[in-house]
Parts: sequence; structure tokens; C-alpha cells
Amino acid sequence: MTQQALFIIFGGTGDLAYRKLYPSLFRLYEKGYLKDNFAVIGTARRPWTNDHYHEVVMNAIADDGHEADRTNSELVRKFASHFYYQSHNVNDTEHYVALRKLADKLDEKYELKGNRIYYLAMAPRFFGTIAAHLKSEKLITDHGFNRLIIEKPFGRDLKTAKELNDAISAAFSEDQIYRIDHYLGKEAIQSIAALRFGNQVIASLWNKEHIDNIQITLAESLGVEERAGYYETAGALRDMVQNHILQIISLLTMERPRAYTAGELRDRKVEALQNIKIYSEEEARQNFVRGQYGEDADQEQQAYRNEEGTDAQSQIETFVAGKLVTTNESLAGVPIYVRTGKRLAQKSTQINVVFKNVDQNIFKSVADADAKLLQNVLTLYIEPDQGYRFDLNVKNGNQSYGTMPIHLEYHKSAAEKAKVPEAYEKLIHDALDGNRTNFAHWHEVAQAWRIVDVIRQTWDSEEAEFPNYVSGTMGPQAANELLARDHRTWVYNPNR
Ligand SMILES: NC(=O)c1ccc[n+]([C@@H]2O[C@H](COP(=O)([O-])OP(=O)(O)OC[C@H]3O[C@@H](n4cnc5c(N)ncnc54)[C@H](OP(=O)(O)O)[C@@H]3O)[C@@H](O)[C@H]2O)c1
Repeated sequence: MTQQALFIIFGGTGDLAYRKLYPSLFRLYEKGYLKDNFAVIGTARRPWTNDHYHEVVMNAIADDGHEADRTNSELVRKFASHFYYQSHNVNDTEHYVALRKLADKLDEKYELKGNRIYYLAMAPRFFGTIAAHLKSEKLITDHGFNRLIIEKPFGRDLKTAKELNDAISAAFSEDQIYRIDHYLGKEAIQSIAALRFGNQVIASLWNKEHIDNIQITLAESLGVEERAGYYETAGALRDMVQNHILQIISLLTMERPRAYTAGELRDRKVEALQNIKIYSEEEARQNFVRGQYGEDADQEQQAYRNEEGTDAQSQIETFVAGKLVTTNESLAGVPIYVRTGKRLAQKSTQINVVFKNVDQNIFKSVADADAKLLQNVLTLYIEPDQGYRFDLNVKNGNQSYGTMPIHLEYHKSAAEKAKVPEAYEKLIHDALDGNRTNFAHWHEVAQAWRIVDVIRQTWDSEEAEFPNYVSGTMGPQAANELLARDHRTWVYNPNR
């Protein structure tokens, strides 16, 4: 359905706006979700003109583009003509007055019915002041919808997250706040619910009677690249575990929602996170492993500590592996192993659900001496590959009755993947629609910090011996030992 709205993008000259927001808005325009009745105000300190802003927006679309001639097309020009630039320092009250005047003018010109989306594509330390000014300077309309989209990181711990939340909540109610976790916009992540609750065969096996363990890997092959400044203040635990990994865990461990609605899903996800055991410091030490990459084996890639913008003695972790457990009755005691890191052997995000062995191997007596039944594994490929794999045991094809493992696989083709809307496109579309299903509620964010804070505090109190893994491997040996002590191994092991 075509929507009418004014977007005010704070951080309009920034990287996120350029790489994600402008191309996503264009795709929504191409598909007709946005037509004549929309406008965008980009704001930041740089003194850009509207003409320059249009060039930037057109370049952003071209750089993103699968169609080379997009920049020249009439459609792109028409799209860019809806963009207005307002030079603005977010700490300066005067500028909000100018912003309101421009917003009101555009509201009238494009017949936007007072609908406004404020996108804070800026460092979180500005969120409070922007929200307060939007309210005090009356940018928030009393007719139409007013929605605030904010980016991660949402705080550095529970305390700072709460301060941030209190600051934005002074101007916006929870149902007006859209906290982006772009993993929730990914097709394969959204598909977890369809897989779990749309298939009786899987729904009936999704419990501690049948599942032995769950493994979640978010592996990156790149290093910190040009994000060292941010990364030095974050680290893998805050950057990946607190948000993306715990969101995935909530989708994997939540009870069945009564319906696929934002409210139901949120309640089940909050419950799921509340059921994740919060460790004591001693338990955190035992169940979590941190790492930082050194050089690669050929000494071609440098160690994290030698990257530009990092501290030569940096204690920041570029790798985390850990074991979490839920007290949720149906999955109680099932270990959830998580792992994420930079400069690992391969880029892959995947989930491996490992099922228990059959109670009795009746083929033992007839099978070849070394033949054994392998555990069934259901793998969900999230990215870059999107698909599924199911490992089974079948007869071996010989005269003697042995078994052998096979797997059933489905992978989305490149053409199918190209049709799937990109995460930001989906999430902006949902925000326009007022659909909060795939945004993080404050209760989820807060609970995720409770889980992570104790691990952070434990680590911060002890010096790590970094670097402790070679670039191009799957992390420190301790990550393998974490599973080995439970007599398990990582299913996804490109080192092997
Ligand atoms: N980039 C990504 O892929 C990505 C992914 C996930 C989350 N995020 C989050 O998204 C947010 C934006 O990230 P980014 O990478 O786009 O950052 P960025 O490239 O550094 O952009 C920051 C923006 O803030 C503006 N700005 C800074 N101080 C300002 C002030 N006092 N008043 C007005 N504008 C000001 C800058 O413009 P001027 O210099 O012109 O003022 C710029 O447009 C951050 O919270 C980040 O953590 C980014």
C-alpha cells in the first residue's frame, strides 16, 4: 500500500544513510510503496545545498545499483527531487525551528497528513537531545503518525541503555519507537518462525526430548577494517551477542505465539530472553571465551592490535564463543552454543540444530565395523548463503546392511536471493506500515543487557592474553574446548 510520510534523517551525510537508507527508500519508491506523497529532509552539519544532496542521493543509488544506468533514469531524478537538505547541528535549538518550518512546508506541499518518521542515523549520544528537541520545538505533529527509528548500539550496558531509553521515552511512547536490529529484517531470520511453527514435523521435535544442542555462528572473514574507532569502544560481545545473537536465540527458544502479530511475538521473545540463565561471574568465566585476532599464518594480514586506530595493548575482543542455557521448560538444559568473530576462516551466519541420537542402534550387529549413526542436524543458512540442510542416515547401498549419512539441501538461487528485499528496505517498509514485529522492544534490549553485562564485567576485571587466534582460523582453541568438555564439536568447522 502506498504510504504518505515525511522522513527526517539525522545524519543525512553519513555512511548508513548513503549505503542503506537512500537505496532502500529508492527501492520502496520503485515498488510503489512511496509515490508522490513523500519527502525526505536530510540533516547534518555539512553545508550542503539541495542540488548537491540530490547528487549524493543519486550516487548512493548508483553505487548500490544492480542497474548501471539508474543514475540517469528519469525515475531516479524524480525520486531525488523529493529530498531536501537542512544544515543542522543537533545541539542547536535554533535549527529545530528552521527544521520545523521546512517540515511543515513539505507536509503541505506533498500532502503528508502530518505523518513523520525521524530516523536517527547518528551516534547514540545524540539521541536524547534530538528526541527532546523534537518535542520541545514541536516537530512532533498532533495529527498523523510520529515514529522514531534508532540504530544500535543501544547503550553500553543496562545502565546506559536505560538512561538512553528514559531520554527518548520522555518524547516518544514505546509504540512510537522502532529499535533497529537489522538481523530482524533478514529473510532467513524471519523464516525461523515459519520453519518452527509452520511444520508439524519440526514443531513436534523442537524440545529437549529431541534436541541435543543448538549452535549459532556469526562468522566474518574481514577484520575490523575502517571501523576501529567504534570497535575499540564496543567489542564482539556488545557488537554482536547483545543484539543479533540474543535476538536469534529468542526466536529459536520462544514458545509458539498464538498469532504472528507484533504484540504476541514481542511477549514470547521477552519471555524467551527472561528464561536465559544469567550467569554468576564464575559461571561466565567457565562458559564464555574471548579472543582477539593476531596475524594470519602467512603474515599477510596484520593483528588487530596493529590495525589503524586500535590500541597497541587493546583488550577488545574480536571473538566470542559461549554456552547459554534456557530455563524454558520445553528446552531446559539444551545447551545453546554461540560463536562470533572477525577474521575467521569463512564468512557465514548459520544455525545448526543438532538432534539426539536414536535410543538404540539396531544396525550395530550388521553394520560395517566403523559405520555409525550420525546425529541428525538441521542447518539454517542465514547469509551469505540462504537455505536449509538436513542430515540423515540411510542405507549404504551395499549388499551388507550398513548405513551412511546423506543430506537434503535447499539453497536460494542468486535470482531468488536478488528478489528478497534487503533488511533495511523491509524494516523501513514495516516502520511506514506501523508494523513493529521486527523491531526490538525495550524489554528485550534490557534483558539482553542483563545477560551480557555480567560477562562483560567478568572480562573487564581480568586481563586477557591477546592475541590468541590466528587470522583465518575459527578462533582460539578454547572455543573448541568449550564444546569438547561436553563431548561435542562445532558442526560448522571450515578449518577441518
Ligand atoms: N554504517 C553502518 O553500516 C551502521 C550499521 C549499524 C548501525 N550503525 C549506526 O548508525 C549510526 C550512524 O552511523 P554511520 O556509520 O552513518 O556514522 P557516520 O558516517 O559517522 O555518520 C554520522 C552522521 O552524524 C552527523 N553528525 C555528527 N555530529 C553531528 C552534530 N553535532 N549535528 C548534526 N549532525 C552530526 C554527521 O554529519 P556531519 O559531519 O556533516 O555533521 C554524519 O552525517 C550510528 O549509531 C551507528 O552505530 C551504522
